[in-house]
Amino acid sequence: MSTIRYPVRRAVVFGANGAIASALISMLCDRPEMEAVYAGSRAPAGPLPNKALPFAFDLLDEASIAQAAATIAVDGPLDLEIVATGVLHEGASLQPEKSWRDFTPEAFARAFAVNATGPALIAKHFLPLLAKDRRSVFAALSARVGSIEDNRTGGWAAYRASKAALHQVIRTASIELARKNAGAFCVALHPGTVDSALSKPFQRGVAPEKLFTPAQSAGYLLEVLDGLRPGDSGRAFAWDGARVPF
Ligand SMILES: NC(=O)c1ccc[n+]([C@@H]2O[C@H](COP(=O)([O-])OP(=O)(O)OC[C@H]3O[C@@H](n4cnc5c(N)ncnc54)[C@H](OP(=O)(O)O)[C@@H]3O)[C@@H](O)[C@H]2O)c1
Repeated sequence: MSTIRYPVRRAVVFGANGAIASALISMLCDRPEMEAVYAGSRAPAGPLPNKALPFAFDLLDEASIAQAAATIAVDGPLDLEIVATGVLHEGASLQPEKSWRDFTPEAFARAFAVNATGPALIAKHFLPLLAKDRRSVFAALSARVGSIEDNRTGGWAAYRASKAALHQVIRTASIELARKNAGAFCVALHPGTVDSALSKPFQRGVAPEKLFTPAQSAGYLLEVLDGLRPGDSGRAFAWDGARVPF
């Protein structure tokens, strides 16, 4: 079954310096109907394609997110919003845990702040900007390991728990969104295992055909978003369109 390509004229992507985000931005800018792709990052983004408009934000600074929303809102509503930020490891203070002996409050706090609270604050300020007179989509990149039901190997507790919390944020926001904007979707996405700084230390043992390039993953994810159907809001989907249980 071929996917209908819904016109997306105005989009925002958070995490513009990230591997998957930057591939998403390039791909969206290549669409002929695209007018503007707002590209948000902490540090100034590298060279951006035409149609990409850079802006600054930090997930840990709500005022910066509110400011970005206020600025972008002036130009009009958005068809697509993608949160492509996230953290899995960060020096000695955040490393995926192998055992409960490794749990630290610092790692949990950091993972939750970046992977759950930050996207929730983006939802707070950007869900109201979704177009109401046509199909519109809010999507946050999560991870399959955030699925509680799917967890058969253990490990990585802070990252898993923060992504599970993100799933709850997505479900909760989708319920309110359905009341306010019936044509809008709010979903979580699993991008597959993708060659990026985030996955680099954990790529050993991943079969080459299962390690996607950022462009490959971005292409799959945009196809999943194009293919969302009524009833899909509030759910998580993998790169191949398969539903990931919360
Ligand atoms: N790669 C994989 O195999 C894989 C698998 C499953 C899920 N995912 C998910 O996919 C998403 C994107 O990952 P990726 O592979 O593209 O990783 P990446 O290249 O490391 O990108 C992560 C992005 O998050 C941004 N970020 C981190 N903390 C931030 C903060 N406080 N404020 C604003 N931005 C912040 C980073 O910004 P800076 O550039 O400023 O540091 C970076 O742009 C993440 O949610 C990740 O959990 C990835």
